[in-house]
Amino acid sequence: MNKKIAVIGAGNVGASTALYLAEANIADVVMIDIIEGMPQGKGLDLTQAGPVRGYNCTVTGSNKYADIRGADLVIMTAGLARKPGMSREDLLNMNAEIVGSAAKNIKKYAPKAYVIVVSNPLDIMTYHMRKVTGFPTNRVCGQAGILDSTRFRAFVAMELNVAMAEVQAMVMGGHGDTMVPLPRYTTVGGIPINELIPKDRVKAISERTRFGGGEIVKLLKSGSAYYAPAAAVTDMARSVLLDEKRVLPCSAYLTGQYGIKDIYIGVPIVLGAKGVEKIIELKLSKKELADLQASAKKYKGVLKEIGY
Ligand code: LAC
Repeated sequence: MNKKIAVIGAGNVGASTALYLAEANIADVVMIDIIEGMPQGKGLDLTQAGPVRGYNCTVTGSNKYADIRGADLVIMTAGLARKPGMSREDLLNMNAEIVGSAAKNIKKYAPKAYVIVVSNPLDIMTYHMRKVTGFPTNRVCGQAGILDSTRFRAFVAMELNVAMAEVQAMVMGGHGDTMVPLPRYTTVGGIPINELIPKDRVKAISERTRFGGGEIVKLLKSGSAYYAPAAAVTDMARSVLLDEKRVLPCSAYLTGQYGIKDIYIGVPIVLGAKGVEKIIELKLSKKELADLQASAKKYKGVLKEIGY
């Protein structure tokens, strides 16, 4: 029997995720959305692309949470997206309600599932998901660092006119303006970018990365990015379902690592069949560590706003 992935939300991020997942052909996919007919229609459309694209998994849509029953992995994408001028934190209360209700249903219908959260504000919603489901922390994590670092990678590749896949990057911290791009851990074909790109350009690229989501919100005018977020979460899904044990920056629950505890924030982890199998502790410089801790401190404050 195929594995099963439930995608909560069949909007831009959810449907793009279903598309990338179908192309990966690693599991049957069910999209859940409240809008009648919409997830069913998108599911049928994606199914009909199967013969051309060469995948055999089923892609379906439903308006009932009960249809996530038995899912091995749940990807939470539902929620409101930013409009120009809004920060991810502006979405706080509305999305906390949506994520809370999804969490109750995940607990009810897919109590053994691994959960990856994409809804914003990401690190806060991931914490909320874990609290409401009561799942162990290795089974709940958030997608953010891969998106932020794929943006960093793309900008570095554009700067140097080299293959995108040759660039590896590390971005830690919260998925917001306090994120911490780490040029020291960013390489092209194994060569640190500090040896290839002048300092001021590295700084400019890091800044563009930090505001990379906002740049797209401004261009789209309604809604936020979806292709890169969907691609990023698909990589995470593969790593869990195929037990790839990839080393990826993700929002994970910290219990004292980096001097931070009881919060979800972006750090490098090993992601495999047991979910968050390991949190990697890098030797950060004083400034990098201070930036990461400042990011965590900000999110502690935001958590309080929703009663934690
Ligand atoms: C972004 C949103 C989706 O970074 O958080 O594009």
